[in-house]
Amino acid sequence: MAKLNVTLCGIEFINPVMPAAGPPVKDGLMCQAAAEGGAGGIVTKTISVKPAHIPRPCMAEVKGGFLNTELWSELPKEQWLESEYKLAQQTGLPLLISLGYTSADISELALLVAPFATALELSTHYVGHDISPIINALKAAKQAVDIPVFIKMSPHPNIQEIAKAVEEAGADGLIMINSFGPCFGINLETGYPLMGSNEGYGWLSGAAIKPLALRCIYDAARVVNIPIIGVGGVTCGRDVAEMFMAGASAVQVCTEAILKGPSVYGKIVRELDEFLDSHGYESVEEIKGLTIRKMAEKAARSVLPIPVVDSQKCVMCGLCEVSCAYGAISRSKKLHIDDEKCFSCGLCISRCKQQALHMT
Ligand SMILES: Cc1cc2nc3c(=O)[nH]c(=O)nc-3n(C[C@H](O)[C@H](O)[C@H](O)COP(=O)(O)O)c2cc1C
Repeated sequence: MAKLNVTLCGIEFINPVMPAAGPPVKDGLMCQAAAEGGAGGIVTKTISVKPAHIPRPCMAEVKGGFLNTELWSELPKEQWLESEYKLAQQTGLPLLISLGYTSADISELALLVAPFATALELSTHYVGHDISPIINALKAAKQAVDIPVFIKMSPHPNIQEIAKAVEEAGADGLIMINSFGPCFGINLETGYPLMGSNEGYGWLSGAAIKPLALRCIYDAARVVNIPIIGVGGVTCGRDVAEMFMAGASAVQVCTEAILKGPSVYGKIVRELDEFLDSHGYESVEEIKGLTIRKMAEKAARSVLPIPVVDSQKCVMCGLCEVSCAYGAISRSKKLHIDDEKCFSCGLCISRCKQQALHMT
């Protein structure tokens, strides 16, 4: 078994998979369910000074992803302070308390939640892409408490600039990314938008945003030295490994936990362990930033890769053959790749469900 524990800002996590702020941690009991389901830490749904009035419908599964217009917690802060945080604390796991949004909101809330929190997570979701409100919120938190403060980034277009600025302003870590949008979906039966928000807009999460999350993590990890918690489209252990390779030090999961329930954290942890074992890694730390290091080895990229078939794993399903636009793949008794025709596009490798194809 590989070593799965991680330490971020001096906080020890038994494994690197935790919930992300959202419905799976919408109250204390849900936090307890997440712990029982195998999470290595707990994050609570964002609260603000006033409870949110959430338009309905506010969640929909869409092809490849998920739309929501959930805002922040509909529970008043008093309820969180009286009972929900205490229930979450009973898990015994590190507790990241999510707060929003302005510096005035954060000044008020940070002090109130400090007795319960191992760390704070500040959402930048409704403060726009300008750096100053984000920095002001961070400074307000740092002034109020002396526990680690993480900044949760939306997929801001200027992610490196913001990441560097918040590190310089004293952030202890980054969490990236929040959902992407605004996006739109239509209920074909009624003709109305899927979301009940004023404009019908919603925010995209789930598998569809994983490449965006990975790019943000990869970009930020190359310019900051503080830890990054990756979030966005994690559905399995291999996704966690990808986030680590891009530079993350832990991950959060929201949509997959909404769709599959709290046992999903433990399942993802077991799959991560299997991935690490089968690839000869002794710890999850070992793969952190691997892709950043690989990209520095420019020479390895100068050779055009040709897929190689592992016939022990290939089940001859034909997925690769049907989508090879170059006619380079054929099946008879075995899968055959014609080196002359192969364009090295890589599609077959990404489509193979058995991981039976890899690059030379
Ligand atoms: C229904 C729903 C509610 C969410 N609520 C919050 C929230 O209160 N605070 C926050 O920072 N992010 C919130 N998020 C964003 C998630 O924490 C996460 O950043 C995003 O969904 C991407 O991760 P995922 O693909 O694993 O869902 C919410 C996401 C969803 C789907």
